[in-house]
Amino acid sequence: MNSQSHKRIRRGVARAIGIIGSVAIIGACWVFGASEWKLRRVHDVPLVGIRDTAGSPDPAEGERMARIVGCWSGCHGDTGQGGQIDMEGYYRVTAPTLSSVLPLYSDAELVRLVRFGVKRDGSTLLGMTSYTFFPLGDEDLANIIVHLRRQPLLPAVPRERAITWTARLRLAQGKWQVAADQIDPARPRWGELPRTSAFERGRYLASITCTECHGLEFRGNEFNDNTYDGGPSLAIVAIYDRDAFRELMRTGKSVGGRDLGEMAWVARNGFVHFKKGEIDDIRTFLRTYHGLPEDEGDH
Ligand code: HEC
Repeated sequence: MNSQSHKRIRRGVARAIGIIGSVAIIGACWVFGASEWKLRRVHDVPLVGIRDTAGSPDPAEGERMARIVGCWSGCHGDTGQGGQIDMEGYYRVTAPTLSSVLPLYSDAELVRLVRFGVKRDGSTLLGMTSYTFFPLGDEDLANIIVHLRRQPLLPAVPRERAITWTARLRLAQGKWQVAADQIDPARPRWGELPRTSAFERGRYLASITCTECHGLEFRGNEFNDNTYDGGPSLAIVAIYDRDAFRELMRTGKSVGGRDLGEMAWVARNGFVHFKKGEIDDIRTFLRTYHGLPEDEGDH
């Protein structure tokens, strides 16, 4: 091969590297731009306060619900002191000290944040499971807010927000969503609909708790189902009789004694605050919803 053809080959290789490099740069810019847009865009969600609920808000009931739905004993720490959420491979974000951020929000802004996953400026939250809180009824929200606002001011934990390229790519591709995009305002707000039967009461409670990890349709959760942590389809209640289900909800003990990890944790820290009747309602709802026949535990 003469030096002319060597030069040609070298030029060809250099051009190919140049093209590959340009494509990679354009691709990276697209991923960054599209994901950044989703992270920063302003969501047009109207501010709607809580309607006047009968009687004044009940802070003790608010505390109980704060523990059940996880404002307390969840991402924000045991008593709202703040915590770190680490969705491995996706993002790390600080769930802030509640007493330090709440005073910045009016009640209506707080209601919008909880139900729609948007901050005061209309941009999305990251890591907040608003899809689970969307069905919260006004009365429960009013109680929770009054309870939270009564708490002493705690020192604010430093805030952090770090997002991986994997998460950005999936965001750009529409395979993963930020909190505000996980909300479908057309879904029913179960807490504002009648709750006269065990099925209706159970449907409400399950929709504001179990959906976080078991999927919006209680059929198990995968990341692309829009929800957060992986839990199986709740058709599995079939193997839990009434007493076993009460035991699971309060202590996290499974039928067969298998360690349920995160499920056991959330039961011991949150669901232990359910009343017995509420646990039975949830079971009745889940059984009926999954087409299981009535049994002696139904009421
Ligand atoms: C924070 C996440 C989370 C929440 C909230 C949650 N679960 Fe789970 N749950 C899980 C995970 C994860 C598993 C799977 C545990 C395993 O198999 O090790 C699970 C498993 C279960 C099981 C199967 C137990 C077994 O024997 O295998 C039942 C039943 C269950 N959950 C019921 C519920 C109900 C009812 C609710 C709502 C009141 C709920 N869970 C809320 C995470 C959660």
